[in-house]
Amino acid sequence: MDNWHSELALTYHEETKHSYQSLRDDRHFLDWGNQPQPLKSYRGLQAIPLPAELPTTQMPALRALAPLDPMAARTLPVTLPDLAYILFAAAGITRRRTYPGYGEMLFRAAACTGALYHIDLYIVTAEMPGLSAGVYHFDPRDFAVRQLRAGDYRQVLVEASGDNPALRGAPVLIVGSDTFWRNTWKYRARAYRHSFWDTGTILANLLAAATARGLPAHLALGFVDASVNALLDIETPREVALVLVGLGAGAPPATMVPAMPALHLDVAPLSAEEHHYHALEIIHAASALEAPDEALEWREVVATHGLPEATGAIVPLAPTSVENLPPAVLEAVIRRRGSARGFTSQALSLAQLSNVLVAATQPIPADYLATPRSRLNDLYCLIHAVEGVAFGSYVWHPPLQSLELLAAGASRQEAGTLALGQDLAEEASVLVFALCDLLPIVERLGNRGYRAAQLEAGLMGGRMYLAAYAQGLGATGLTFLDDDVTAYFAPHAAAKSVMFLLAMGYTARR
Ligand SMILES: Cc1cc2nc3c(=O)[nH]c(=O)nc-3n(C[C@H](O)[C@H](O)[C@H](O)COP(=O)(O)O)c2cc1C
Repeated sequence: MDNWHSELALTYHEETKHSYQSLRDDRHFLDWGNQPQPLKSYRGLQAIPLPAELPTTQMPALRALAPLDPMAARTLPVTLPDLAYILFAAAGITRRRTYPGYGEMLFRAAACTGALYHIDLYIVTAEMPGLSAGVYHFDPRDFAVRQLRAGDYRQVLVEASGDNPALRGAPVLIVGSDTFWRNTWKYRARAYRHSFWDTGTILANLLAAATARGLPAHLALGFVDASVNALLDIETPREVALVLVGLGAGAPPATMVPAMPALHLDVAPLSAEEHHYHALEIIHAASALEAPDEALEWREVVATHGLPEATGAIVPLAPTSVENLPPAVLEAVIRRRGSARGFTSQALSLAQLSNVLVAATQPIPADYLATPRSRLNDLYCLIHAVEGVAFGSYVWHPPLQSLELLAAGASRQEAGTLALGQDLAEEASVLVFALCDLLPIVERLGNRGYRAAQLEAGLMGGRMYLAAYAQGLGATGLTFLDDDVTAYFAPHAAAKSVMFLLAMGYTARR
């Protein structure tokens, strides 16, 4: 079982770091003639349109980012309008832009590295009004699903997850998959990090959308990879399942598993040629779980990890009370989200920053965490312009609802350097970095812990995007020079690895 050869995850991470040297030596160029299609297209399968008229929820986005109030939780049924709302919020097309010489680009609900949209969503459902039991692929282009298998196959996922109770009663499950080539075309082996960042931003939207519809949702990262891939009939290792999401609760579990033959479906090619990146395929295979027992053992092993006690000056944060949250409703925020392409020098209020950090660290209903309040990543901030907060570097302590000052003073130019010289980082009022201590994570969770750490960081990043736009701010994910960021936050972050970077501020119109 390679999962426990956890030096492989550390090696992958090390080998895919950005540094001055790696960027200087980089000879990669984009082969535009061979650019992959950003969407998976099944040919010859009938489109089943989802309801175009989506429900409205009136739920403030910042409320939807907090956990579902158990009193407000619905059990059955999950309806087709619920499913349509959630799929749109997670992966729908929100903007279409035509660029001279390129053609039309379809932008999506969740941010994605390079706008390459390599993550697909599949639905595995029991019978629901308007949609018969089956396995479906979601195609955002025509906002439709296509049936791959007829029958109730939920039990395949429940078994694959080592009988995860959070999945057992779910009437609907969603599976996220990655077709690597759609992202490796630009980012090569580093794209395995993007597999989880870009799934994470989708999941941030998905979880918020489920909350807005009053539905419980649970993430499972522990599952037998081969079983899930076989259910979806995807062509491994080109495309692989990364996450399962149980939606709703209280449904009678499916017991009988219908036959699961290979489907031989006709899928449109992505580009003339596809390249494989071995480093990426190796780490994916080395983080696979092979039997339901392994998935079971893997579950709920991460207890709350704490930051060392704060010794620096403390800046108490001031999140907005629930009654006074900004009214922007989730669906409107998702529709207007788009990565900022420039920031003004206007400072954020302390409440705005507080709301973003609180939203990022809300509980995550995921199988690898012993309690939803546990986490693998910590958030470090580089603050340039927040009212009442001195510029400098800080670490966020969620239990204290406070920032701890690590070092006073912060140069904007240096911030830009940390993000590969991008102006966006220099202009931003705040940069938030997710960092984690990878060694104990892979010791406890094996290589698959690496998947969890990256995905969790992406999910926190996705939540910060939504929290920023809910408050009239802009945000963008950014890439970074790995070791320089760690050094920047040393000695506090000395042993940690950088997982995600989000820049925030008031958007400048360009
Ligand atoms: C994890 C992550 C990293 C990103 N890195 C960068 C970056 O380094 N530079 C940049 O300009 N945009 C970056 N982006 C923004 C994407 O380019 C953007 O999400 C994509 O083009 C889709 O556009 P949208 O977010 O406006 O919908 C990043 C986004 C994510 C989610």
